[in-house]
Amino acid sequence: MIKYWKDYKWSNVFAMIHNLKLDPKICTDNFSGHMVVITGATSGIGYATARKYASCGADLLFINRNENKTKELVEELSREFNTNSSYIIANFSRLSEVHQAAEQLRCNERNIDVLIHNAGVYLTKRILTVDNNEEVFQTNYLSTFILNYYLKEKLRNQKSGRILFVNSEAYRFAAFGIAMDDLTWSKHKYSGIKSYGAAKMAQLLSMIEFNEYFQGSNISINAMHPGNVRTNSGQSNGWLYKIFKKKVIDRGAIPLSISADALYYLGVSADLDNVSGKFFNLTTEEELTPPALDRDEAEKLWMISLELGGLNGR
Ligand SMILES: NC(=O)c1ccc[n+]([C@@H]2O[C@H](COP(=O)([O-])OP(=O)(O)OC[C@H]3O[C@@H](n4cnc5c(N)ncnc54)[C@H](OP(=O)(O)O)[C@@H]3O)[C@@H](O)[C@H]2O)c1
Repeated sequence: MIKYWKDYKWSNVFAMIHNLKLDPKICTDNFSGHMVVITGATSGIGYATARKYASCGADLLFINRNENKTKELVEELSREFNTNSSYIIANFSRLSEVHQAAEQLRCNERNIDVLIHNAGVYLTKRILTVDNNEEVFQTNYLSTFILNYYLKEKLRNQKSGRILFVNSEAYRFAAFGIAMDDLTWSKHKYSGIKSYGAAKMAQLLSMIEFNEYFQGSNISINAMHPGNVRTNSGQSNGWLYKIFKKKVIDRGAIPLSISADALYYLGVSADLDNVSGKFFNLTTEEELTPPALDRDEAEKLWMISLELGGLNGR
């Protein structure tokens, strides 16, 4: 995996550091009559983004795991913005539920104008799901892959649409790419940063393939870093991590509204017409690191994901 080193550029790192300080571009367009799907809208970035789209007139459909929190959200948006919203309940730690949600969404008669893959976790300890995948990989990556895979034809048949990945600059921690032969971390030493970086890297590699699939259509697929924001992320980790998060990570946090504004701009602004396969630091386009641009690895991961996601033959 040392193969990437010669392609790394310091200018790429400096650009990222510079971009982290920039405010997002703002879109003030109304989005009435449009349908927006958000995963993980019950807290943090997803919640703030749901409120942003609702305040601009969009109809919303959530894919969340917690029904009570979701009902409260639907009521809140209806009360405050008169929003028309609905939901599907699915825990991404269970692939059977992801398949059901994907099928339900595929059969929904409405077009999807914006699909925001936001649900995600950060874990400091390795956990295996009932499907025998590593939890961070399954929740942050494999579930988004399955949803996109089910929806790709529906989307392609639409006049237009945008897919957005709430990714992270932490994808850079997978500096040597992904260990495709050890996606469950049974052979390599596990750490939160490494597993999270690998899952976000996997999402970016899938973007290469989906972007190719959507060529010639008006469907775009882009990824973004939402900034460092104070959310519920990491709350299931141990006390040491929680202290570190509170005292160090959260100290530099930006307001949640900034992430939501960025996700609104990327989903709605005409500036993004015909822009696909790109990564944005909030709303600033940024060059990806070499392993995130590796087409051979993207193809390999696609085949593995079909297998792990139970999608072969579908
Ligand atoms: N916070 C940051 O600084 C930051 C930086 C870069 C990227 N991100 C990314 O931003 C996204 C949102 O994270 P956040 O910071 O807003 O964290 P958060 O407050 O913990 O929100 C995560 C959302 O994902 C949902 N979720 C978690 N596990 C799930 C599962 N197994 N099945 C279905 N839904 C699940 C949560 O549902 P519940 O409400 O039921 O828990 C919640 O709605 C993630 O993809 C994260 O990687 C965050």
